[in-house]
Amino acid sequence: MSVTGGTWHPGPNLELPHYAPRDPMAHTPINEDDIIDQVKHGHGHSSLKVTPIHSPSTSRRGSGVITTPTGEKVTFHTRTAEERDGTLPHATAKSMADHLEKYTNLFTLSPQRMRMIVDAFEETLDKGLQEWEQVIPMFPTWVFGTPKGTESGDYLALDLGGTNLRVCLVSLLGGCKFEITQTKYRLTEEQKQEDGCKLFDFCAECIKEFIDTHLPNVTHDNPIVIGFTFSYPCLQERIDHGILIRWTKGFGAPNVEGHDVGEMFKESLKKFNVPAVMTALLNDTTGALIASQYVRPKTKIAVILGTGCNAAYSEDIKSIGKLKDKNLDPDDVVAINCEWGAFDSDFHQHLPRTKYDIHIDEHSNKPGEQAFEKMISGRYLGEIFRLVIMELVDEGAMFLGQNTYKLEAPYSLDTAFLSLMESDPTDELLTIIGIFNHFYGLETTLAERQFFRALARLIGRRAARLAACGIAAIVRKKGYLEEGCEVGADGSLYNKYPGFAQRIHQGLVDVLGAKGKNITTYHAEDGSGAGAAIIAAMTKARKDAGKYPNL
Ligand code: GLC
Repeated sequence: MSVTGGTWHPGPNLELPHYAPRDPMAHTPINEDDIIDQVKHGHGHSSLKVTPIHSPSTSRRGSGVITTPTGEKVTFHTRTAEERDGTLPHATAKSMADHLEKYTNLFTLSPQRMRMIVDAFEETLDKGLQEWEQVIPMFPTWVFGTPKGTESGDYLALDLGGTNLRVCLVSLLGGCKFEITQTKYRLTEEQKQEDGCKLFDFCAECIKEFIDTHLPNVTHDNPIVIGFTFSYPCLQERIDHGILIRWTKGFGAPNVEGHDVGEMFKESLKKFNVPAVMTALLNDTTGALIASQYVRPKTKIAVILGTGCNAAYSEDIKSIGKLKDKNLDPDDVVAINCEWGAFDSDFHQHLPRTKYDIHIDEHSNKPGEQAFEKMISGRYLGEIFRLVIMELVDEGAMFLGQNTYKLEAPYSLDTAFLSLMESDPTDELLTIIGIFNHFYGLETTLAERQFFRALARLIGRRAARLAACGIAAIVRKKGYLEEGCEVGADGSLYNKYPGFAQRIHQGLVDVLGAKGKNITTYHAEDGSGAGAAIIAAMTKARKDAGKYPNL
């Protein structure tokens, strides 16, 4: 893929031939992004496309052909609830409406409740700025000031996020423009869990292969500079350093927590003799902030709403009490990586967690952590949905007489399915028929499908409204409400979940009143690629000017 000035153009597939991605996550059937892309846009051969055979408005019988992600075509014929011949007991419209009422109460966040969350959030953000080791850690990133838009040159960006590993060649062209050529690798579940050294060795190998293939002029005498986007909570003493505080998003590779990931990565580069120098370690949110400011200088905040959920923003040094002994210019600004996914993880006083949220937390590889993220991010929304359905199955309210073993597997229901259910355009909800039929071998009635769609809406809307609470807290803290501000947003939920942005905007108005309309979100630039390069360039310029050479 290559990108010019932030717009994607199809490019040659640079996937390295020797790397055959295995099942992406042992528990996830298919790539979330692919499901949505391919179903919504109907391209690629591996899509789940539903083509009605009869017009749903003229036929009570739902029939269609599903193209599964493996290219298989499955024809199905089903009936509406009323038409069933009674062979399988199913939920009725009435019982489903009763259930829906219960879940609506559980998952709905009133404006008043949101305002209480925002009050607590704002206070917690400030605590993190004043003291070290707070629940929202508010990490200074040592990225000072804002980009000028004139930064230029070629850089490599390594992006280790939640789902993929990317190596990008970023050419900063100045004039707020850049081009990206990238190679993407799907990370396997084993890679996320096996020894950390192996993970960084894999990163180094991918970079070496990329340089060998695309950058013949890069040698040990003429090494290329790398910005490393490592999107996990890191305490940084200086910009190329970062102690991993804890893994998030399901990673668990041993021997990394408590270690300097900058140093570990440098060791791997050395081991594989890679002609590259890592000069900046950054978080995806910081990258998104800086990349967005590079093209839209009015941007004040960046949020990532994807596998994980987090925000960064520019803060005045004079407002950061915990930096007072660092001898920094009080009039400078520095990007803060909030790591807000941890909000309320300490005493669980503020977020209205349901029993499904608590179940997810207790059964995760990191119980007691990332309470806010676990209610919002793409890694968990499908699982929340699945837990509700399993509760109804256990109560005997649906799928009686059918085998639900596939649905019983934890994390077997990808958040991408919620997006699909919400955007099913057919009266009979044929996409939902397809999902349950093909992936879980389950037959559904129209009443059940309508319930599923409504449930997806509740879970999706709650996530967006909680994200709005976080944004509102930063906005209020910084006093941006009157003048308004732009928020760069990225991640699969923001980009692909139908209506997510509108729901955030509605949430902002609910919390902040009519002036909430002054806060607008837009699709951020590629922070983990372009942002990493811009930060590497800004760091070089800062150090060349002799400013804070040790940071
Ligand atoms: C998780 C990580 C955080 C990252 C976010 C979005 O919350 O801890 O560092 O920014 O996911 O990827």
